[in-house]
Amino acid sequence: MEQPWWLSYLLAIFLLRLDTKLVGEAFQPEFAEPLSNLTIVIGRDATFRCLVQNLGGYRVGWVKADTKAIQAIHVHVITNNHRVAVSHNGQTVWNLHIRNVQEEDRGQYMCQINTDPMKSQMGYLNVVIPPDFISEETSGDIMVPEGGTAQVSCRAHGQPEPRVMWRREDGADIIIRHSNGSKTQVLMYENAILTFNKISRSEMGAYLCIASNGVPPSVSKRIVIKVHFHPVIQVPNQLVGAPLGTDVTLECYIESSPKSINYWVRDSNEMVISSNKYEVVNTMMSSFESRMTLTVRRLEKTDFGGYRCVAKNSLGEVDSVIRLYEIPGPDRIKDLSTVNNKEDYKFSTPLEGPDNQFGSAERSDDEDDKEIFTDIIKGVKLITNSDDLSNRSLQSLHSNTVSKLNLSNKVRKIIDTFEIEQKNGAGRSYVLHLMFFLICFVLSYIHLLKCYC
Ligand SMILES: *[C@@H]1O[C@H](CO)[C@@H](O)[C@H](O)[C@H]1NC(C)=O
Ligand SMILES: *[C@@H]1O[C@H](CO)[C@@H](O)[C@H](O)[C@H]1NC(C)=O
Ligand SMILES: *[C@@H]1O[C@H](CO)[C@@H](O)[C@H](O)[C@H]1NC(C)=O
Ligand SMILES: *[C@@H]1O[C@H](CO)[C@@H](O)[C@H](O)[C@H]1NC(C)=O
Repeated sequence: MEQPWWLSYLLAIFLLRLDTKLVGEAFQPEFAEPLSNLTIVIGRDATFRCLVQNLGGYRVGWVKADTKAIQAIHVHVITNNHRVAVSHNGQTVWNLHIRNVQEEDRGQYMCQINTDPMKSQMGYLNVVIPPDFISEETSGDIMVPEGGTAQVSCRAHGQPEPRVMWRREDGADIIIRHSNGSKTQVLMYENAILTFNKISRSEMGAYLCIASNGVPPSVSKRIVIKVHFHPVIQVPNQLVGAPLGTDVTLECYIESSPKSINYWVRDSNEMVISSNKYEVVNTMMSSFESRMTLTVRRLEKTDFGGYRCVAKNSLGEVDSVIRLYEIPGPDRIKDLSTVNNKEDYKFSTPLEGPDNQFGSAERSDDEDDKEIFTDIIKGVKLITNSDDLSNRSLQSLHSNTVSKLNLSNKVRKIIDTFEIEQKNGAGRSYVLHLMFFLICFVLSYIHLLKCYC
């Protein structure tokens, strides 16, 4: 009777198992590779993996080396730490799992095999902690008088010990004044404490302290340092001349912290308020600098006189007077050209239009004006085409003219437009038109229009 085919398979499998059993008995168990050291962020899970060859009938155990506390033997957890678990994959891979790792879990762990003598290997569990500020030792926003000493601190804990760096939010350098009088400028300053000796207004602003220890995320805190000082006014032009009928803008620059209340007052002590007549504008230029302007529209005789810009904060008050005086205006052109109607004043007004100002001027009823312009424009084109009389000389001509004759606001506007156009590099011929309109204006202004044109 023939044996079933599968019986030989069964026999083979039995023999094979017997064989591994015999080999297991014959050879001592060995570790296949060393235990890895682990670096785990607090709160995460850690797994030590012990690889064993030829375990045979022996068992794998886990011990925390410093406390000698047995964590697990074979498939049983011994410790009463409920975060500890074990798992295995066949007879080879033996794992120790620590869930939600805590600082007390840090230390050496030992994987043992209960041979005689016992075999073991160790791996270190490092628990790292991202930085965090210690709120009691970290400053909030501060205010200091100028020239005083300010100190801000930022302390952080974490594992490893975090480094604390300071930098300015605006990217400017931090100035460190040492007690020996020397000073250094740095983009980043590393220290838990940042001290400002004799602090100045330029050091006012937001500072960031950044704590990092290589364990993400780094943390940063924004600390605003306010420097207080008495307000200061700077006036670029204390004497401003303008012709009747024009608009003129007076300006004052204020430095103040805390922020000042800024306003304008006339000779008569009347406060100037925005209206049809006046436009009052305050513009902040930085945290402590501002520009205040007063535009007086359609100047009349009564508008000439003193205007005081005043800045007031909790530390004091300051003012400065700008004197507005009359200078001969476009009416003179009227006299010269013997045209005496009011329409002629439009000679300059179209330049205030937003677009294509020269186009408006060209539409002038006066045919002669038109010719003059055309001629002059041709002349300019010739000059600018020749290399030596470059735009530089034109520019200096124009700036000289401006500084010599304190021209009216309108002319300034023309110049401004010219400069803007020039910067943009657009409308070159337009700029030339404008340039020569300006020259023509100046010439007429100094009573020479007739002689030249
Ligand atoms: C673990 O760290 C120890 C030193 O703390 C070192 O001697 C050992 O070689 C490290 N083990 C591994 C597998 O890198
Ligand atoms: C002043 O002290 C700082 C550190 O406190 C040092 O770096 C610097 O060289 C000193 N300067 C002088 C001129 O002694
Ligand atoms: C022009 O104004 C400036 C101030 O901006 C003044 O110093 C100068 O004297 C004035 N020049 C004339 C000619 O008025
Ligand atoms: C005009 O000035 C600009 C910069 O100021 C310069 O780059 C350019 O070459 C000048 N043009 C001539 C014709 O000199």
